[in-house]
Order: sequence, then structure tokens, then C-alpha cells
Amino acid sequence: MPDAVLRHGDNELTLPSHVGTEGETAIDIGNLRSSLGLVTVDRGFANTAEGTSSVTYINGEEGILRYRGYPIDQLAEHASFLEVSYLLQYGDLPANDELAAYEEEITRHTLLREDVKHLFEAFPHSAHPMQILASATSALATYYPDALDPLDEEAVDISARRLIAKTPTMIAWSYKYRVHQPYVYPDNDLDYASNFLKMMFAVPAEDFIANPVVTRTLNMLLILHADHGQNCSSSAVRLVGSGQANIFSSVAAGIHALSGPLHGGANQSVLEMLTRIVESGDTIDTVIKRAKDKDDPFRLMGFGHRVYKNFDPRAQILKKAAEDVLKALGVDDPLLDLAMELEDIALSDEYFVERKLYPNVDFYSGIIYRAMGFSTDMFTVLFAMGRLPGWIAQWRELSSDPDTKIFRPRQLYTGPAERPFIARDDR
Ligand code: SDX
Repeated sequence: MPDAVLRHGDNELTLPSHVGTEGETAIDIGNLRSSLGLVTVDRGFANTAEGTSSVTYINGEEGILRYRGYPIDQLAEHASFLEVSYLLQYGDLPANDELAAYEEEITRHTLLREDVKHLFEAFPHSAHPMQILASATSALATYYPDALDPLDEEAVDISARRLIAKTPTMIAWSYKYRVHQPYVYPDNDLDYASNFLKMMFAVPAEDFIANPVVTRTLNMLLILHADHGQNCSSSAVRLVGSGQANIFSSVAAGIHALSGPLHGGANQSVLEMLTRIVESGDTIDTVIKRAKDKDDPFRLMGFGHRVYKNFDPRAQILKKAAEDVLKALGVDDPLLDLAMELEDIALSDEYFVERKLYPNVDFYSGIIYRAMGFSTDMFTVLFAMGRLPGWIAQWRELSSDPDTKIFRPRQLYTGPAERPFIARDDR
């Protein structure tokens, strides 16, 4: 692949290029400042890679998503979430004995220390679950001071397993606290998804058996959300990890990043948007008009993506799943019909077509979560639960890479030039 030649004034610099597995080419500007005293500016890093990664491949033009080379639709159909968690972190699908050992290890770490309840109970019952989850995840680091060294592979492995094991319990217990119900303890006889559903929806007064449709759907949803390359929250996890912060602190940073409505918070915003449309009596044309209006901050939530400029393969899987799951659960949700109508109209509108705005992973997921019995404010923590193995895989890849450097971007300063201090009485 040819190198790039940068000409700036009378200066010229040859920049080497690197080629990825799928033929993508990156120009290495590592010598730019030392050779020409120049830096680059790239808002939102839309054209810039910090480095290489072998975890997830996305082709936004062709709507391709693969975890460690395996296509997302095949994993969603055939794998379990813990199988995908193993794949993302260790690089290959586990053999039967490896998966059984991994499942056993995760199952045996699902319990939380009793005093973690005091953490949940310090929050107002109205607290958003993402705020609680980020705090509880940070707090986990204080219970395992002996396993925080990011350069100690054994410590990293046990901390990663504790995070995967305990996050469903933290999410379920924070929910039970917020709805004033008793905590339900993990049941080691259940698989990962069924155990979470029981901790979420069981009450001591009666037996609880998770609906197999809901269990199967949750497993698929978690897989679809498990990783997505260098998205906002994974980049936050990597940035914090680049300073050799421990895995709990780094993942807590990812949870905060995911909470934003432009990122993982969009699944909650989509449901709120659809509900507002129904309640306000607004027509879809009014909604589309607002979304296109530059002077109106309203955006069509669940639409658009930095990378996917064709279609989000996850949204395609979720659109089909939404119809199947609601039918299987006997749920008739008018918001699904509204979402599909909104999608049809938007995809034939020049504004969306021209900007290549298609439904993303968040457009249909909330309708499915709602049919499964989750409250709207739980949608983003469900995204976090799915994304957890991806965050961990990205963090482990960065922490174990000998070429890793602390993230410290440059800037182009445009503030005031030097000026003398002014005495307070003279201001
Ligand atoms: C996720 O990165 C990932 O991989 C993320 C994710 C993952 O798995 O980790 O896939 C998960 O975060 C999905 C995205 C969820 N967010 C939303 O659904 C919120 C609504 N979408 C937008 O805010 C937006 O599309 C983003 C944030 C998703 C992407 O923003 P970009 O890439 O910075 O695009 P942009 O803001 O520069 O938009 C380009 C144009 C602009 O118009 P012009 O200035 O060119 O005239 O498209 C317009 C935007 O105004 N536009 C929208 C729009 N999204 C973009 N107009 C109306 N409604 C929208 N939703």
C-alpha cells in the first residue's frame, strides 16, 4: 500500500500506511509534530484511530458487524451470552469444557457482599439506574484491593469474571430497592439470563419461572449489544485504562459515557419520544419536520450512526425480533406500529436518505424490553449489561499491549494571547 506524502509550505513528509485485515488503510501520523511541528484536528475522531484492535470489525457502508471474525447474526442465533463474553475476551469460541468451566466460575461469583445494600440504600428511590450502576461498579474496586493491578493477568481475569458475574445482581438489586421490594438472591441452578430475570421479577411470596421466550430474547439482546469497536463508551474505558486505572474504575467511566442520550441513553429516549408522539397527538409528519429543523434541538432518537451509513445489522435483527417477541408474548404495543411507520416515512424522506440516517440498535430495543416487562428507565442499564464483556475485552486488549501509550490528545489553542494580571480594584 503506498505511503502518503504531506506537503506543507516548502516542507514535505512521507507518512507510512498500515493495512488492516479487511483492507482498511490507516496513515500513521506519529512523526508529524516532531518532523513538521504540526498537529491534526478531527472533531469527534470521525477519521482518526488511536490504534489497532482485533476485537470487533464494523463495515458501516456494508452493514457488517463481526466479533472476533464471527458475524453478529450467527452469534445472535446460535451462541449464549457467556459464550460471546468468552469469545470477546479470549479471542476464540470456547470448547464445551472451557465454556462449562467459565459458566461455573461466573455462577459462583454472582453474590454481592451484604454491605453493598447500604450503597443502594444511600440513593433516593428516584435515582436513575445508570447512576447507581456506575457508583456500585466503582465501589466493587474497594472490596477487592488485592485484584486491581492492570498488569497482573491473574488479577485482571478474576476481576473481569467478578464484573460479569455481579453486574446482573447489582442491576436487579438496585431495581428492587427503587421499587421498594425485597432483594432476590442469585440462584446458582439457573443460566445467566434466567438468573437475572428471577432476581428482577421474582417476589418471595411465590415461585418464579422465567418465560423461555423472554430468556431467549434477553440472551439475544445481550449478544447484540456486547461490543461495537471504538464507540464513545468503549473509548472512555480505554482512555481511563490507558492511565493504568483499574478495570472497575475504567468500566464505571464507560457506564457514565453510555448514559448519554446520544449514545446508550437513546434506547430510553426512543420510547419517551414514541410515547410523547402518541400522547401529544402529533402527526409523524410533524415529528419528521421537527427532526429536520436545524433550529429545533429535537432529533429522531434511534436514528443515525457515526459508522453505519447503510443499515445497522443489529437494528435489522431487532426489528424482526420485536414482531416475533411481542406476538409470542401476546403483547399488542401500538408503539411498535408507530416505530415501523416512522421508519418507513423517514427512509423515504430526502433529508434522511441524503444523510444516510437509518434506524440504529436503539430504535427497536426499547419496545422489546418493554414487552419483556422492564421499565423504561432500565433500558440503558440493560445496554450496559450487554456491553460489559466488550468494554472488558477492549480494556484487556489495551492493558496487555506493550505499545499502549497514555491517551493525551493535542489541541489547537484559540484563547487569549498573553496578558498581564489586573488588580481586583482595577477590573
Ligand atoms: C449508539 O458508535 C457506536 O457504535 C454507538 C453504538 C454502540 O453500539 O456503541 O452503536 C450505540 O450510540 C447508537 C446511536 C444512538 N443515538 C441516537 O439514536 C441519537 C440520535 N442520533 C444522533 O444524535 C446521531 O445520529 C449520532 C449521535 C448517533 C451520530 O452523530 P454524528 O455521527 O456526529 O452525525 P452528525 O450529528 O454529524 O449528523 C450528520 C447530519 C447532521 O445534519 P447536517 O448538519 O449535516 O445538516 O445528520 C443529522 C445532523 O443534524 N442527524 C440527524 C440525526 N442524526 C444525525 N437529524 C435528525 N435526527 C437524527 N437522529
